[in-house]
Amino acid sequence: MTGDFVETLLATMTLAEKLGQMTMSSAGGATTGPVRGETTTESIGKGEVGALLNIWGKATTEGFQKLAVEETRLGIPLLFGCDVLHGHNTVFPIPLAEAGLFDPDIWARTARAAAGEAAADGADLTFAPMLDTARDPRWGRMAEGFGEDPLLGARFAAAKVLGFQGELSSPASVAATAKHFVGGGAALAGREYAAADISERALRETYLPPFRAAIEAGCAAVMAAFNSVAGVPMTAHAQLLRGYLRQELGFDGVIMSDYAAIEELIDHGVAADRIEAAALALKAGVDLDMVSGVYFSALPEAVARGLVAMADIDAAARRVLRLKQKLGLFDDPYRRIRAPAPAPDKALALQAARGAITLLANDGILPLDEKIRAIAVIGPLADAREEMVGPWTLAADPSQCVSILDGLRAALPGCDIRHAPGVSIRGDDESGIARAQEICTGADVVILCVGEAANMSGEASSRAHPGLPGAQRQLAEAVLASGRPVIALLSSGRPLIVPWLAERARALVATWFLGAAAGQAIAEVLTGRVNPTGRLPVTWPRAVGQIPIFFAERPASRPLKPDDPFTSKYIDTPNDPQFPFGHGLSYAMVALNNLRLGQTEFRAGDTIRVEVEAQNLSDRATLETIFLFARDRVASVAPPLLELKDWMKVDLSPGEKKTVVFTLAAEALSCLGPDFAPRLEPGDFDISVGLSADRRKLLSARILCGHSG
Ligand code: IFM
Repeated sequence: MTGDFVETLLATMTLAEKLGQMTMSSAGGATTGPVRGETTTESIGKGEVGALLNIWGKATTEGFQKLAVEETRLGIPLLFGCDVLHGHNTVFPIPLAEAGLFDPDIWARTARAAAGEAAADGADLTFAPMLDTARDPRWGRMAEGFGEDPLLGARFAAAKVLGFQGELSSPASVAATAKHFVGGGAALAGREYAAADISERALRETYLPPFRAAIEAGCAAVMAAFNSVAGVPMTAHAQLLRGYLRQELGFDGVIMSDYAAIEELIDHGVAADRIEAAALALKAGVDLDMVSGVYFSALPEAVARGLVAMADIDAAARRVLRLKQKLGLFDDPYRRIRAPAPAPDKALALQAARGAITLLANDGILPLDEKIRAIAVIGPLADAREEMVGPWTLAADPSQCVSILDGLRAALPGCDIRHAPGVSIRGDDESGIARAQEICTGADVVILCVGEAANMSGEASSRAHPGLPGAQRQLAEAVLASGRPVIALLSSGRPLIVPWLAERARALVATWFLGAAAGQAIAEVLTGRVNPTGRLPVTWPRAVGQIPIFFAERPASRPLKPDDPFTSKYIDTPNDPQFPFGHGLSYAMVALNNLRLGQTEFRAGDTIRVEVEAQNLSDRATLETIFLFARDRVASVAPPLLELKDWMKVDLSPGEKKTVVFTLAAEALSCLGPDFAPRLEPGDFDISVGLSADRRKLLSARILCGHSG
């Protein structure tokens, strides 16, 4: 098929048929909001719908596709869009956990595996990856993204787009959707759907780079965010949709709304009615209306009133048709639906789950001593396969997930493993705590499995108290009081604020929601068969009042001096987080030494060589993540205290010493000047390496930029 095919088709289409292509309906699929107007087989058969949302399964999708292909005047195939956030049938760790692998290869492979399964279930497009930079753990959708850092986000974006899309026409590929453009992660006070007020600087430095990377990787679609940015709802944000995406980045793919978001322009207070809402969204550049049905019902009147131009409708319909063409749907509308389902990649699910586990604290109790014979596994997350799946998967079968208890029992057949949930995840009934305490009394060690229910993160799951819900703290206190050594495992979609537990547990492990292989991977790490190598993709706060907290903050006018009251600090909590970005222990001990720069001065166009020695001081092989940071000492715009510039993962056998070499392009040290144009400013920079963003532990060297670029 050539591009002319689309033009020829478009020329034959009525206004209603064009608007049908610009309409995505639910048709009874999984929903996250009100269903506006039932999509009937009749409306599909009349060509009033071009895409369906969150419908999957071969028979179901084939049935709908037949209607579109065989019943409509033009036979244009439907586009099936599905949420495939961390696996489809085979569930991988939630994206936040997966980000902690700092491994673009795995990120791409899990996306590829998920794409294959989703495509064989009829999906042509996924509403992923979620690329919202997230610095507020109250926001439940932090679980679905990469965390706080824009460079991490950019690499995550590129890997996911590559993985989902591969060759777009392949029956094993789905089109990716970069969402939520932009600023969902900056929702006021972490409250879902709330307005965001983001400066142009923060947009360009922090929130836009992952989207840019996705577009540069060829991402087929973008979803506008629900929220407003500085007063302008993203669904109507011409400056960012048309100005930034289309003109500045040259993006020519499909821009879709989020669920019912066009009609919600009325709730935002920028449109008086559906006609104005439809006109605003179209003029801003939204091609595809998800679920509100407003394009189909209200754009004809908007055209009649002269509020929108037919050329804009043509452009939007053309983009949707082009996407269908790229996906190969005009050649074979059933190419995905009829493709054989790939075998579940269980090995990949296990590999990703192992790598995502992050050992936050450990006084040496882990790995478990081989002599341990009696283990108390306490807590409501211990025997909870369905929770291991994590938030928002459409086709996962929780019975295929390995619970923590399953995993431990399989890994330690010689141990007496007793379990009591103690309490439920959210409930306040404490009557089971006594039984849990009883079990602890006879145990050599207690594994306390606490945290959130899977559906406490994801969409519409903001929490004002992102700690342990329900009576879990009471359970944990009782278990800690038993005097037995306690290893606490935190299942969650966000950092949980539990300073009291971090201080008193002998080990603390972030086990996130790890998907199909959760329990097996956790047991392997606890027993030491696998060395934990996950690193935090977000700063872990010690108090809600520290939020938003992230390592790349700008200097305060009066930097913290502990003995000076008039400096930037809290009077009731330290400034530093519970655990910094990049933090994660292993069972090995790695030291960094001898940071050397290849030169003392650099100029625009140069490459800076950064060398550091990494030595494994332990008798365990390990995979260490080494971060490269930079700081401009003096710049025209107050420079962040630390910026991530690169990272490298290094295998080290016991006792091994390796020289790790980074090559940093001079341009990576440029900043956005007062006019937001990138510029390399002369003067000193600190180049730092470390195992996390803890500034006190970095090795640093200074280099002079001798020439402004
Ligand atoms: O893809 C999602 C989006 O992230 C939030 N609203 C609903 C969409 C479709 O399920």
